[in-house]
Amino acid sequence: MESAIDWHTARAMLEWQAEMGVDEAILATPVDRFAAEEEARAKAEAARAQPQGGQAPVRIVETRIDPIEEAVKAAQAAPDLAALEAAMAAYPHCPLKKGARNLVFADGVAGSKVMFVGEAPGRDEDLQGKPFVGRAGQLLDKMLAAIGLSRDENAYITNVLPWRPPQNRDPKPEEIAMMLPFLQRHIALAKPEVLVIVGNISCQALLGKRGITRLRGQWGQAEGKPAIPMFHPAYLLRNPAAKRDTWADLLEVQAKLKGLK
Ligand code: URA
Repeated sequence: MESAIDWHTARAMLEWQAEMGVDEAILATPVDRFAAEEEARAKAEAARAQPQGGQAPVRIVETRIDPIEEAVKAAQAAPDLAALEAAMAAYPHCPLKKGARNLVFADGVAGSKVMFVGEAPGRDEDLQGKPFVGRAGQLLDKMLAAIGLSRDENAYITNVLPWRPPQNRDPKPEEIAMMLPFLQRHIALAKPEVLVIVGNISCQALLGKRGITRLRGQWGQAEGKPAIPMFHPAYLLRNPAAKRDTWADLLEVQAKLKGLK
């Protein structure tokens, strides 16, 4: 049945109710779920037991789709970044897509020596379809400027997830796993020489481990490239004392980029 309200309005109404303290959905009349389940089971058994008027039984062949395999196929088939963005937009298996307004693919100059990989879009990014444009993004821009980088000239920025998770919750491992083949292809096509891994979710996706406090500032390898984890700017907004460590990490990035020239 077509609903009279659109999906986003329905979600906003539900979120408002949750904020008001509603924690249970109750219908006007009680539903005995045990009886409904029993009835469904009995019907299914009766259907199985009853021969269909001498006809051969209908065979239902279940084809399971592996979302990760599908992602690998779609990502590998993309010959360039525009095709990759289109392939991501067409990918139907990530549940985050349904709740998002826009696909957030990337910003900055593709082909830059350095590529920053953040976590997932927030509200502002979802609205604008660009990564890191909210408060955390403004701080990221200042951090880039401090080491002579800018998204207009010499830095490329993306996220592990291209769709905003509802209420900015952490992405689930299966959501990360199904979008990872796209990120891997994204890195291969953008051809950065250095990766900066921004935040814990990105460490999880690209290094297979979490623990940003321990990992930050340490060069490792991701996708065959030198990669350095760094605190997420949203974390720095909440914990300004950690900016000192991040400054050291930014200087590491700057030195690495200088060494490449
Ligand atoms: N946080 C992220 O990790 N990425 C964005 O694009 C915005 C906020």
